[in-house]
Amino acid sequence: MNAALCLALAFSSDGTATCRPCHAAIVDAYLKTGMGRSVERRAVPDGTFYHRLSNRHYRLRGATLRRHQVDGEGKEVNIVEKSIDLIIGSGNHAETLVHRTPQGRLLEMPISRYRTYYAMSPGYDRPDHPDFRREINENCLFCHSASIDPAPIDCGRCHGDASAHRNKPGRGNILNPARLSTQRQLEICLQCHLETASRGIPDSLRKPGRAVFSYRPGEPLGNYKAYFDRAGDPAPRFEVNHAGYRLLNSECFRKSEATMTCVTCHDPHTARARNACAGCHASAHARQTGDCAGCHMPKRRTEDAIHVTMTDHWIQRQPSYSEPRFEDHRPYTGDIVPFFWAGGSEMLKLANALLSADRQRTSEAFRALPPTPQNLASLGEALAREGKRAQAKRVLSQVLKADRTSPVALNAMAVMHATEGQLDQALRLLHLSRQANPDHPLTWVNLGVTWEAKGDPGRASEAYREAIRHQPDFAEARHRLSALLARTAPR
Ligand code: HEC
Ligand code: HEC
Ligand code: HEC
Ligand code: HEC
Ligand code: HEC
Ligand code: HEC
Ligand code: HEC
Repeated sequence: MNAALCLALAFSSDGTATCRPCHAAIVDAYLKTGMGRSVERRAVPDGTFYHRLSNRHYRLRGATLRRHQVDGEGKEVNIVEKSIDLIIGSGNHAETLVHRTPQGRLLEMPISRYRTYYAMSPGYDRPDHPDFRREINENCLFCHSASIDPAPIDCGRCHGDASAHRNKPGRGNILNPARLSTQRQLEICLQCHLETASRGIPDSLRKPGRAVFSYRPGEPLGNYKAYFDRAGDPAPRFEVNHAGYRLLNSECFRKSEATMTCVTCHDPHTARARNACAGCHASAHARQTGDCAGCHMPKRRTEDAIHVTMTDHWIQRQPSYSEPRFEDHRPYTGDIVPFFWAGGSEMLKLANALLSADRQRTSEAFRALPPTPQNLASLGEALAREGKRAQAKRVLSQVLKADRTSPVALNAMAVMHATEGQLDQALRLLHLSRQANPDHPLTWVNLGVTWEAKGDPGRASEAYREAIRHQPDFAEARHRLSALLARTAPR
């Protein structure tokens, strides 16, 4: 089966189509929502964008994104061009362009479309952004896709397994959230809509032993994930995915004795909000117009993606705030505290260890996390940095058994071999990494270092240049290249 066909099949996720014969009105309404179009293969218009902070030019044409810089002589350099294979985001607010590598990895692209124009993707508006290197990981997909194969969020994410119901259509053999406690109902939405902070801290951690798509609607959310927040007053922060977080902080929610859910105001199938305030505030401003939300839930610009505005779900008497003009990239240095379902001191210890720069604590933390290839690769890397080579090698071999092309594992292994003088071993691993991930800058730098050690400055400088082409701000690559050129220049 060829790649294009695989992609097409992944998209015909039977999530909504199988329900249509009997629930046509619900399906048709749902497909118009953002959730019903959360991941798609759709065309985006041509355009250009220049990013001053990182001095990069981007050009979209057809289904490709091209990036270049201009050198002192006005020549285009550091050109990279990649196909756009997927879009994450319905476009109600934003569309993130995604590239699928020949090996099937999904990479977030540096620019996104904000309804009518292109600008940097959220988190990329800085001089040292990750350009084409940020992997769309399983966590993104958990919130944006019906399954690990990218497909729009479907009925099953809120109604669970429908096989019994399809065999014998009727009531009672499929989860109807209306029959759950309000707490369990709320958690169905919060599985994706609760994010305390989009960056700076591990805002949530899956419980050990839980696979990413293992949450089932109706299950206590705390069994699946532990949540954390920054210590201190949450009021000043407002982010893209903050509906759940801000609502849980509201007096309306906290004082309404577990009667308020998202569905109090939102129809789950059209996603539209109705004015439900009067149900609880019969006498408030009786003579006001109907637009309670206009004053008490204003739309505001978000801090983590300054090109979008969202509805603030922290319902306040007199909301006041300042508009963020820039994305804030300062690292968070305060404490982290449990939020709602923290799940014991072990999980908090883990979250704190991940935040710390302490090598030993970090590797202990990764050891306690679910053993996904990603977590194991990070564990192996941390052990290698700690100097625990034998352990590191054991873990990294395990990663490579599951994911032969993991650039993290291949590079960490190669560096260990190289520092032990086994240069040919190191080169073999780096070639594997290069074949599978030809645009991974660290692989090129490690290749350069190894070629230098083998006494081949020609190949080494080519490798450094390739690293710089992919990552023009890679200081280590530039530094090594200029040192090499200085050493080998004819006197
Ligand atoms: C062959 C027809 C048919 C198909 C296909 C079908 N349903 Fe139903 N569904 C029904 C009938 C009939 C009812 C009962 C309606 C009633 O009593 O008002 C129902 C009820 C439901 C209920 C409410 C259950 C309850 O206990 O309250 C849900 C939720 C539901 N369907 C979801 C789905 C989903 C999701 C799909 C697709 C995966 C689906 N249905 C496919 C016929 C179907
Ligand atoms: C599987 C994850 C997931 C679940 C479960 C989920 N949402 Fe969403 N929701 C999203 C994502 C992702 C978006 C943004 C989609 C986009 O526009 O690309 C979204 C968008 C929305 C929107 C914006 C309007 C629109 O057209 O989509 C509303 C309102 C919403 N969700 C409400 C809810 C409610 C209420 C529930 C629970 C009944 C819920 N969501 C459950 C992931 C989820
Ligand atoms: C914890 C769940 C979660 C994770 C993880 C997550 N998102 Fe989202 N994202 C959401 C929800 C929910 C929304 C809708 C927020 C709203 O409308 O209030 C959203 C909104 C978006 C939007 C705007 C969609 C629109 O037009 O409204 C884009 C684009 C997006 N996310 C991309 C990403 C990418 C790329 C990643 C991974 C790097 C990611 N998200 C990770 C839950 C998540
Ligand atoms: C974002 C979460 C979410 C998604 C996605 C979703 N539903 Fe629902 N559905 C709900 C909730 C919540 C209820 C209960 C609503 C209530 O409290 O009245 C519900 C109720 C229902 C009912 C029972 C309605 C009734 O009047 O008895 C049916 C049928 C149904 N959904 C079908 C579907 C089908 C078909 C899909 C896919 C197209 C779907 N749902 C997608 C959340 C969702
Ligand atoms: C499920 C019931 C419920 C709903 C729905 C609800 N509220 Fe409330 N709200 C409450 C409760 C309970 C309080 C706390 C009242 C008190 O302290 O006397 C509250 C408090 C408030 C406050 C005061 C907040 C503060 O910090 O002092 C405002 C303003 C408010 N609500 C506005 C709204 C608006 C506007 C809506 C609709 C968008 C709404 N509420 C929907 C239950 C609700
Ligand atoms: C008290 C009423 C109320 C409750 C409860 C509520 N919402 Fe909303 N929500 C709104 C209003 C009002 C809007 C703005 C609708 C519009 O502009 O058309 C909105 C918009 C949204 C949007 C669209 C994106 C944005 O930020 O503008 C998302 C996503 C959303 N809500 C998710 C949720 C989730 C998830 C929950 C439960 C955790 C929830 N809402 C609970 C009233 C509510
Ligand atoms: C024009 C802006 C505006 C609109 C529209 C508005 N409010 Fe208010 N509301 C306010 C302000 C301002 C306060 C704060 C009054 C104070 O602190 O003394 C307030 C206070 C409140 C409170 C706090 C308790 C109280 O009664 O003082 C509630 C509850 C409330 N509003 C609910 C609502 C509801 C429900 C609606 C829609 C029917 C609504 N508001 C529409 C501006 C508005």
